[in-house]
Amino acid sequence: MTSTSLDLRDEIQRLKKERNAVILAHNYQTGDIQDLADYVGDSLGLAYRAQETDADVIAFCGVHFMAETAKIVNPNKTVVLPDKDAGCSLEESCPADELEKFINDHADKNYYVIAYINCSAGVKALCDVICTSGNAIKIVNQAPTDRPILFVPDANLGAWVMEQTGRKMDLWQGACYVHVEFTRDSINKIKAEYPDALVVAHPECTTAVRLLADEVCSTEKMVDYCKDAPVKNIIVVTESGMLHRLQKEAPDKNLIAGPTDRCACSDCRFMKMNTLQKLRDCLDHLAPQVEMPEDVRKRAEAPLLKMLEQSK
Ligand code: 13P
Ligand code: SF4
Repeated sequence: MTSTSLDLRDEIQRLKKERNAVILAHNYQTGDIQDLADYVGDSLGLAYRAQETDADVIAFCGVHFMAETAKIVNPNKTVVLPDKDAGCSLEESCPADELEKFINDHADKNYYVIAYINCSAGVKALCDVICTSGNAIKIVNQAPTDRPILFVPDANLGAWVMEQTGRKMDLWQGACYVHVEFTRDSINKIKAEYPDALVVAHPECTTAVRLLADEVCSTEKMVDYCKDAPVKNIIVVTESGMLHRLQKEAPDKNLIAGPTDRCACSDCRFMKMNTLQKLRDCLDHLAPQVEMPEDVRKRAEAPLLKMLEQSK
């Protein structure tokens, strides 16, 4: 570690104390940020942690919709994220005005709208309940059976949940640009190199890739899967940051990043916008802050709290 990053780490710890801040980080953050965080986890774990914290400031190292989720459940706390441009292709694929128009145009259907948490507060405000990859099956299983379901914005996650629950759903055609980079060919090639390996994949992957996996689950569930796996070699088909968390938690395993057709692994450019320097700066300046109109926050809070209740 360079002296600069050591200084930065010290400064972050000092500012954290001064601000009475908590640092929450997603599993896809770079290793240096994960190592410094108070909690590292998936979207569901992070939402619970944000709800429970008694810190005054939440420094959210993840993407914007995750920090926004923390703000929705903590209107009176300051929520900062290191880079305000850390977006998400799934969030982009479903603008709130388009969803609102769709719901209005199909008012006769009386859709029960389930939104994957990877969406804006404006989209959350239009939904009946939120879900994450960690609880999607549970949430869909609790949906009313007398109304059709509209699932937004991830069509791949939606297809997987339909298979798992047997519920038919109308799917918004959004996708994660990182997970659709994995292909049947790229995963078959790495499987040929490690014929005894197990494959664990995120449900944002395409059906063709999911069919090659021994387990499909959220990033947090990958931790237990890798720890408990009866083999040494495990191919991990998700964003590259996950490997750092897994290597720490399952040091006896040989964890192999799932490759794409072009690269040895797949990086989320949004997740990787956050750096130690930007984390230091956001704690120092208390900016950029996540904010939203109070009426949107209130309407987004109801389906979010419903999810937290239903996934207990
Ligand atoms: P998890 O909730 O499984 O961590 O997934 C979040 C995400 O953005 C996956 O791309
Ligand atoms: Fe969004 Fe995909 Fe990045 Fe996750 S990996 S934050 S779904 S773009």
